[in-house]
Amino acid sequence: MLANMGLGTRSEIKKAVKQGRVTVEGKAVKDSGIQVDPFQDHVELDGEAVSYRETIYLMLNKPQGVISATEDTRDKTVLDLLEPQDRVLAPFPVGRLDKDTEGLLLLTNDGQLAHELLSPRKHVDKTYEAEVSGLVGEADIQAFKAGVTLDDGYVTMPARLTVLRTEEQHEGTAVSYISLVIQEGKFHQVKRMFEAVGKKVIFLKRVAMGTLKLDPLLASGSYRELTEEELESLKSHRGQSG
Ligand code: URA
Repeated sequence: MLANMGLGTRSEIKKAVKQGRVTVEGKAVKDSGIQVDPFQDHVELDGEAVSYRETIYLMLNKPQGVISATEDTRDKTVLDLLEPQDRVLAPFPVGRLDKDTEGLLLLTNDGQLAHELLSPRKHVDKTYEAEVSGLVGEADIQAFKAGVTLDDGYVTMPARLTVLRTEEQHEGTAVSYISLVIQEGKFHQVKRMFEAVGKKVIFLKRVAMGTLKLDPLLASGSYRELTEEELESLKSHRGQSG
């Protein structure tokens, strides 16, 4: 149980047991082969309670430059950002953010929840903020609402585009800061949607997925477990956001 929770290798745990550092129901155990009920018995290692669980839910503020995969021969992956004990339960990223996209990435080993958050049929909102070259305006808002045709002929589902701010730059160029809510996740979808209306995404960040919002206190590259409220809300509202 202790090794499964990432608290040490099997031999390290055996040694800890021999040293009397492991207690079950308050009594030091001498035999590392002892049977415990991980959900019932109170187990401590070095005086700290060990809570057993089978699922893990982490919110990562993905930085640019790392890829949303579990392994890669060339690039650093989002799993490389996790402490070893947080990798024990084999979390994987729920959907992909491009290497140069930042922001909210949920990592979990709960395949059912991952599927429900990603399936376009479940209509779970994914909210992005982006900096886009050019003046994004009403025509784009209407086009995104109706669905735009991507380079491969795919017509996107209705999406909600909001222009947050536009800035005129030198020589008549402009940049727009926008928020976009989509309910599907085709390859490079946001970038390709803007390409479909003749504009280019310069910076992209995901800020929400379903009811889960990127914690503004979470520095780029850092992560934390979801709170019980966040998890409950995500599970109970999945598929109801659209
Ligand atoms: N859309 C994109 O183009 N890139 C992402 O990383 C996510 C959505």
